[in-house]
Amino acid sequence: MSSLVRFGVSLDKSLLEAFDALIHNTGDSNRSEALRDLIREELVRREWREGRIVAGAITVVYGHHTRELVQRLISIQHDAGDIIISSQHVHLDHDNCLEVIVVKGTPQAVEALASRIKATRGVKHCLLSMTTTGKHLV
Ligand code: NI
Repeated sequence: MSSLVRFGVSLDKSLLEAFDALIHNTGDSNRSEALRDLIREELVRREWREGRIVAGAITVVYGHHTRELVQRLISIQHDAGDIIISSQHVHLDHDNCLEVIVVKGTPQAVEALASRIKATRGVKHCLLSMTTTGKHLV
């Protein structure tokens, strides 16, 4: 069980002003909350850098009329079956599809999958959202 600890931080005045401006823009309600968010962001980034098991979501938008595109995307996803937890396909309109592919695995495998999808002809947008399994975060 975690317990709350208070600590003082010495900062250059201009750096603190920049931090407060950042808080104002991100909508964090106070410095403690903003600092907690920054620490968590950095811890998640470190999980990716260190090659731990991470989680993420790959969001893909494509026009399904592009020749062989759907088959290619299915084939790519079958190749990565060991890291794909689930996927959801939404028919955005008559021409466009959106897929959200939820992944869990090594950063290398997840990034390779996102790169393959991104490089597929006919994919209009591909976004890898990098997050954590939550195992090492409190
Ligand atoms: Ni569709």
